[in-house]
Amino acid sequence: MYTYVPTLTDYLLHEQRRFNNASGSFTTLMAQIENATKIIASHVKESGLVDILGKTGTVNSFGEEVQKLDEFSNKLMVETLTNCGEVYAIVSEEVAEPVYSPKEHSGNYIVYFDPLDGSSNIDTNCPIGTIFSIYYKNGDNLLQKGFEQVAAGYVIYGSSVMFVYTCGNGVNGFTLDPSVGSFLLSHRNMIIPDSGKIYSINEAYENLYDDGTKKYLAHLKKEGKSKARYVGSLIADMHRTFIKGGIFLYPADKKQPEGKLRLMLEVNPFAFLAQEAGGKAISKLDKNPLDIVPKHIHDRSPIIMGSKDNVDEYLSFLK
Ligand code: AHG
Ligand code: MN
Ligand code: MN
Repeated sequence: MYTYVPTLTDYLLHEQRRFNNASGSFTTLMAQIENATKIIASHVKESGLVDILGKTGTVNSFGEEVQKLDEFSNKLMVETLTNCGEVYAIVSEEVAEPVYSPKEHSGNYIVYFDPLDGSSNIDTNCPIGTIFSIYYKNGDNLLQKGFEQVAAGYVIYGSSVMFVYTCGNGVNGFTLDPSVGSFLLSHRNMIIPDSGKIYSINEAYENLYDDGTKKYLAHLKKEGKSKARYVGSLIADMHRTFIKGGIFLYPADKKQPEGKLRLMLEVNPFAFLAQEAGGKAISKLDKNPLDIVPKHIHDRSPIIMGSKDNVDEYLSFLK
């Protein structure tokens, strides 16, 4: 039993007090994201009941139109953020164009998000999640480098629900206590181990990878000291990497020359988190993805990240 454990709200307020001139805007914004993700979490938990509650496109027994979970999550995040008073514009993985808050609710932040990452895994009960990346409004420019991120994080809807974020002062993880309804600080100052045994890559694409990547994979197998793990849900594969160490790779391949993952929606938030947790993240060769100037809000980028020693070992095969 615990007596006092800080909640996410306590922690945010504590952090806010470190800045003399803080207006509370950032704390309000984070509270809005927290609320939306708690609602998404409760829907994810019920997703197995879809046959009872009604299939997508049908009307359930409560007379409500049943929405796909990823569409629901997107709508909830868009509506929450563009009405909370702190956001200038949002960019969602599910929406081709940015959405601007109405003038009367416009604020100083830009939020990029992937409302439900790994959504193809919903019906298999594998972990899925929400990813977010926050910038200050900078004129009309939505294409800022990842280094400009004010905060980034994810909420994983897994065997437990966890809210993990950084605002450039380390990474902290909060686990939802369903009986209380609060995220409680459970993983203070998360650090990726310097090296790990697990590699995580879609090996079905092996023939499409460059020679360096092929040689690296052959080396791992020849040594026989590694374990392969690939859920196919970035949130799940990276959450495991934060806890156990190892390496996650979604490199370029012959069919996907820029890889698959979106620079501003998936790559940069995780690169920021990984680096804040003492790990390493690279894009093509040893380019830091946080240093890429995006050309479009939905740009893609190769990404290799995780334990520092593992990423350095991978790099040695590219040279
Ligand atoms: P999303 O569900 O948001 O479209 O993202 C799926 C992504 C990511 O979560 C995962 O790492 C990757 O797709 C897996 O891609 P492959 O099936 O090509 O391995
Ligand atoms: Mn995604
Ligand atoms: Mn998605």
